[in-house]
Amino acid sequence: MRASAPGCYALRVAFIEARRLPDHVAIVMDGNGRWAEQRGIARSEGHRAGSRAVRTIVRAARRLGISALTLYAFSEQNWGRPGDEVTALMSLLEEYLRSEREELLDTKIRLRSIGDTRRLPKRVGAILRSVEQATEANAGLVLTLALSYGGREEIVQAARSLAASVARGDLTPDQITAEVFARAMPSVDYADPDLMIRCGGEYRLSNFLLWGAAYAELHFSPVLWPDYGADELFDAIAVYQQRQRRFGLTGSQVARGQNPGSGTDTESRERAARTRS
Ligand code: FPP
Repeated sequence: MRASAPGCYALRVAFIEARRLPDHVAIVMDGNGRWAEQRGIARSEGHRAGSRAVRTIVRAARRLGISALTLYAFSEQNWGRPGDEVTALMSLLEEYLRSEREELLDTKIRLRSIGDTRRLPKRVGAILRSVEQATEANAGLVLTLALSYGGREEIVQAARSLAASVARGDLTPDQITAEVFARAMPSVDYADPDLMIRCGGEYRLSNFLLWGAAYAELHFSPVLWPDYGADELFDAIAVYQQRQRRFGLTGSQVARGQNPGSGTDTESRERAARTRS
């Protein structure tokens, strides 16, 4: 079923949330530039349309009762784009944070960020910190914006901080396990992504959540990000719900209930009820 009339939307939400929901969805938002080029307009207009799609997807994710949504809004490597495009993206980010503040508060969404946010322009950094602080205690959807973020950079940063602990004598090399390593990475603070979506017709991770993506289910969509809406998100989740997550076990072990994965049906339904208001 695929429909966008309001009644059908509600029906589709009910259908999806009655089954195992991914706890954490991460999205590589790709295709703003091509969307603009197809229309003969500036790339910055594609990003503006992309910013509207962010609003739509955040609302849809909250409505479904997903616990966490992580969006790749600006990579460490994106600083290398033409100056006017970087400036336009920074303005859009500032605009988004200012305009969404009230809605995030009203809907109990907690906003956080990952990445080297010290590189953001002062005004953007200030509004980001202020919205993060204002929404810190919110218990609903955790919305993480990856800003000036790179998966390799984050792993290197974690390695450096663990090496410093070893040098200080606070940790021995043997004590560095996967769990200890993960604790040194802000992107893993919440949880690994269960479902990673990339739209825009490309098939790569582009340095996004490299550690956390180890067992993520991957979903690729040809739809350019500005056109990516609730229907596309629902499609991705419906496909996810057909998958068997094995985490290295065999299919029959998982079928017998030996599943280390997250999100039982009941948990998903309870969470959906809690986070929707
Ligand atoms: C990739 O598309 C997208 C980006 C580099 C930026 C994503 C930004 C937004 C969606 C809007 C601002 C964000 C927020 C949170 C308000 P691309 O430009 O590489 O597309 P292309 O591959 O078609 O050129």
